Amino acid sequence: MGAHGTYAWAAGYFDDGDRPQIVTSRFKYDDSYTLDRYHESGGYQGLRKALEMQPAEMADEVKKSTLLGRGGAGFPAGVKWGFTPAGVWPRYLVVNGDESEPGTYKDRLLMELDPHQLIEGCLIACYAAGLSQCFLYIRGEMALAHERVAKALDDAYRAGYIGKNILGNSFSVDIVLHWGAGAYVVGEETALIESLEGERGMPRVKPPYFPAAIGLYGQPTIVNNVETLANLPFIAANGSAAYTAIGTETSPGTRMIAVSGHVKRPGVYEIINGTTTFRDLIYGENFGQGIRDGNELKAFVPGGGSAPWFVADQLDIPFEGRQASSAGSMLGSGAVIVMDDTTDIPAAALTLVKFYAHESCGKCVPCREGGTWLYRILERIVAGNGTDADLDTIREVGQSICPGEMPHAASERLGLDAVPFPYKMTTICFVGPSAYVPVHSAMTLFPEEFAVLVTKREVRSMIPVTAAPVGGE
Ligand SMILES: Cc1cc2nc3c(=O)[nH]c(=O)nc-3n(C[C@H](O)[C@H](O)[C@H](O)COP(=O)(O)O)c2cc1C
Ligand code: SF4
Repeated sequence: MGAHGTYAWAAGYFDDGDRPQIVTSRFKYDDSYTLDRYHESGGYQGLRKALEMQPAEMADEVKKSTLLGRGGAGFPAGVKWGFTPAGVWPRYLVVNGDESEPGTYKDRLLMELDPHQLIEGCLIACYAAGLSQCFLYIRGEMALAHERVAKALDDAYRAGYIGKNILGNSFSVDIVLHWGAGAYVVGEETALIESLEGERGMPRVKPPYFPAAIGLYGQPTIVNNVETLANLPFIAANGSAAYTAIGTETSPGTRMIAVSGHVKRPGVYEIINGTTTFRDLIYGENFGQGIRDGNELKAFVPGGGSAPWFVADQLDIPFEGRQASSAGSMLGSGAVIVMDDTTDIPAAALTLVKFYAHESCGKCVPCREGGTWLYRILERIVAGNGTDADLDTIREVGQSICPGEMPHAASERLGLDAVPFPYKMTTICFVGPSAYVPVHSAMTLFPEEFAVLVTKREVRSMIPVTAAPVGGE
């Protein structure tokens, strides 16, 4: 078992076993967040190396590394940086530290335990992609992350890593820290930009508002996730070949996965991308260590609360985007939520549906109305007051948000074929579909648990046949 910093251990980070560490290598030190420790452990060497290259060379290294975004969509960072239109200045970097997908708690650790690594990543990105100012947006509830990043920024400014003529170079950049107010939807990049501009955090319509073209203050803007950027110091210091030597061709490097729910050891693990399977992660001795109390696995959410559910048939799928997608789900934000055989499936789905219905920003009708309908109907079913017709209404409302066939996992038990991810949607962002996904997965994979909760009675008309006259007699 490796050495652990007290805080990292308490926060549920485990590094036992013999795994490569790209972004969590300093978590074992109790002073991992200080500039002194960062210097002692190779910190800011990646930035120095980057500054010895031309910006385009550094950008090319990132492209060659096939570093995939860790915010949810898994889009290659180097390719995204190339989408900014030529000759339009200034351009900005926005760091998405709004982490709030149910089950996800890895960016918080990166900000709390290694803020200089994130700052160095931001500087490398700005240098390589020609971005003149960086805005670091941290979720409102993450007070310790905010405090540590703020201190790290002060120290990095004083040491000459941020500001004018960084390390005596012509490269200059400022980093502005912004504390969010705690809304899930603000994690969506265009809503985050609205929030940064002082507006209500509601997503913009894409097109035309693709941030790389029209982003913050109408300027080209790169939005990247905290973990994505935290990989850059390693890539700059060691080269893309060292990065691609870990993991697979389509999913290189490592990635941080938060495991929660009914495993013996919930926690955050830095895994080898592309080859580590869900079985490794849930049952492995150096990971989740199996299901609690000797129980059996019933289902798991493979990629944060928005992801369609998997069951035991999918345990051997590795953390590789295409394989997860063709099996009917996604890797999303890197959060695995495990449910054992004592789980009340409709009630578990209700918990997630309630979250997404509550987090709707209200901008589009199918999400604003549909999410609340789904929540209210499911709540009635879970309370034992539902009817057969309620199940049909759930499907109808779901179809108004996600028309067509919904992705779901193959289940040998039910003799179903997998329907691949993604789905069609009528809403501006994924919050609307996310309210339907958990109940759709639950009803598809465990129909018997809904059947016992509903009765087959006729639904009576809500409108009285003879209305009493006003003032009534
Ligand atoms: C509802 C919603 C919530 C999101 N929340 C986050 C989040 O908390 N953190 C994050 O990095 N990306 C989040 N994303 C994805 C971002 O929109 C964006 O794709 C990401 O920050 C890009 O960074 P990456 O390319 O480095 O992954 C969310 C997307 C949606 C639709
Ligand atoms: S899908 Fe929901 S959260 Fe997203 S923009 Fe529409 S109303 Fe807002």
